Formats: sequence, structure tokens, C-alpha cells
Amino acid sequence: MRSTIEGPGYFTSLPGDYYASDEIFALELDRVIPRMWMFAGHISQIPQPGAFMVRQFGPETLIIIRGDDNEVRAFFNVCRHRGTQLCDPGERGEVKRIVCPYHRWSYGLDGKLRNAPGARNGADFDFEDFPLAQAECQQFHGALFVRLSSGERDKPFSEVVDTRNEATLRRVDPERTKVAHERVYPIDANWKLVLENNLECHHCASTHPELGVVCNFRGWFVDRDEVTANPEGDHFEIQEAVLFPFKKGVKTLSLDGEWVCQRPLGVGFHEGFSTGYVLLPSFVAVAYLADHGMAQAVIPVSTEKSLLLHQWYVHEDAVEGVDYDLNQLIGLFDATNVEDVAIVERVQRGVRSHHYVPGPHSPTREDGLKQGLATYLEMLDASDAVSLR
Ligand code: FES
Ligand SMILES: [Fe+2]
Repeated sequence: MRSTIEGPGYFTSLPGDYYASDEIFALELDRVIPRMWMFAGHISQIPQPGAFMVRQFGPETLIIIRGDDNEVRAFFNVCRHRGTQLCDPGERGEVKRIVCPYHRWSYGLDGKLRNAPGARNGADFDFEDFPLAQAECQQFHGALFVRLSSGERDKPFSEVVDTRNEATLRRVDPERTKVAHERVYPIDANWKLVLENNLECHHCASTHPELGVVCNFRGWFVDRDEVTANPEGDHFEIQEAVLFPFKKGVKTLSLDGEWVCQRPLGVGFHEGFSTGYVLLPSFVAVAYLADHGMAQAVIPVSTEKSLLLHQWYVHEDAVEGVDYDLNQLIGLFDATNVEDVAIVERVQRGVRSHHYVPGPHSPTREDGLKQGLATYLEMLDASDAVSLR
């Protein structure tokens, strides 16, 4: 197994098998995918007790539901009787109990078995022995994250998430936003190609003309003079991430740089403001501008299939058609995502070839891939596997 991405003086992406072999994906189901913190949505999507949504992560689906105690929990979507899927993948709604459609076993919002028709609690078996299986669930400034399974070496969420921008996040007040729109883009490509694509903006000039109207892509690149001036050659840490290097006069992330929502978030109409964070190696990027926000996440499905989940946020009191126009709100990143999907699928078709050998990354424009791939490889090499199979 490959344990490094260092070549002779440069870094590369991974050999083709990592993107196209079912054996590697099977290994990831043992070692990587269950142990990654993955993005599940926004708290505004399940605002009251009983509100739930169902999300797919690899071969598993989870019911993410708010309890009577207001706690948000994530349950595996599997009945404890004979294994029937309780809810449909993608389903959303509000319930008093989770009821299996097969023989009507019913579970409370806390996952405990409350009723099993044809069986007596205590006399036939103890209901308390058959709660729904639970995944870890965390909230971070309005965003919900889940982890399917973890081993002893796995870090808690607080040690994985990048908290450098928490002060500005607080000013935005993400808990007081709501999802104005969500779109899930199916991608015919391995999830790591989506991850890699999202970790560099080397491709932006050739792929994203709309983004180029408002961003100066060079702001994302490590400066070459700093690279050559660093005697250790450790140029990957020189520059902290610039969230969005806006061109002069740009107010927000939109097709023309103008505000797309007239009801600002907590920071007020602060032109050119941006803050957010990234989670690796499951790629989750959350960004807030002064007038709206967004989250983007990659979800592995199978060897050559992934999902790109994108949510757009506005202030909780903003009204569609009055404060914002949905097409203007989503225009820039919907176009950008469609472009990314097309280019990543094209990469997938290329890396399947036996003649694909990974080539050197640009040290100044693709340095972001190093950390993402290194974190992934570290998990893949881990000996304390926690299988999803
Ligand atoms: S399988 Fe769910 S009640 Fe029988
Ligand atoms: Fe892109």
C-alpha cells in the first residue's frame, strides 16, 4: 500500500487504482469512509422535535432527527426486527415516532423501541435491548456533521474541524440562517477526484469563467518568491487560506459581484467579507459572505460514483421574491458546480487508462492537495479498521 505522495522533489496525486478499483473502495469502506466526519445538512432543516431528514453516506443511510429534548441524533435507517429500511433515502418530514412499514415496530425520537406488534415487552423480549443503531452527530455553527463509526485512534470533531475563523463565524450568526436552496449533483467519478478538484484553484481560470468575474484566482496561489526564498522548502504552510480573493469593488460572491440578498447576515452589509472553514478528508467547505452563505460537501457512493451536495443560506427572516431572487442567489455556484462535475468526470475517464501515471503538482497552485491526500492515506493505512461492510 502506498503511504506517501512524495515523488523525487515533487508531489503527485494517486495511482489510477485509487480512483477506479473496487478493491480500494472496499478498503475505504473498512478504514476511511466510516471514520470521516461528513456533512449532513443545516439545523434549520429540522427545526422542531420530530423533524427529520434522511441522508446517504456510501452504502449507508442515516435518519437525522430532532428529539423531544431538542437534541439532534443520527440513526441508521435499519429496523431492528428484520432489517427493513425504515425511511426512503432522501425523505424529509416530521413524525411522532419512526414506524417500520413492514410489521410496524415503532421507535421514539430517541431511537428506543416503543412498540412491537405481536410481542410483549419483558415477557417475550426486552424492548430496551433493541434501540436503533446510532451514529455520532455534531453541530458546528448551524451545520450538522455525522460519523458512521469510529475507532480508538479517531479524533473527536473538535480536533478535526478548522476553528481559525470561529470569531468571524460567530459574527455571521449561522444559526440564524436557513437553507434557501439545496442541490445534489450526481457525479460519475470517484469521491477523491472531487476532493482534489475542490482543493485547488489551478483549474479555475480554464474551467470557471463566471467565478473569474469576481475573484482574482492568484489570491489562492502561494507566492513563488516566498517558495524559493524558503530554505526548508516547506512552502505549503506559508500562506493561510484566502477564503475568496475578490476583485476590487466586488461586494459578494455572485455573478456580478452585487448583493444577492437584501437582508444581511449578522455582519451587516460588509463589502468583500468572507469567512468559513474546511473539513478534510471528506471535503466539506462552508463559506459565509455578508449577505448569504453556502456549504458544499462530497459524498462517496461507490468506486466511480459520488454526490456533490450544495446548500445556499440566507438570513432566517429573508423572503424569497422580496429579499432575494433564487436564480441570482444560486447562479454563480450552480454554474461553477456544473462545470466542476463535467471536468471531474472527464478526469475519471482519463485515470481509468493504464497509461495514466500521476504527474507532478504545481508547488504554488496545487499545494492544497497535499494535506487532503496525506490525511486520506493516513486513514487508509490505519490498522484499527472499523468496517462498514
Ligand atoms: S422488519 Fe421492521 S417491523 Fe419487521
Ligand atoms: Fe472548480
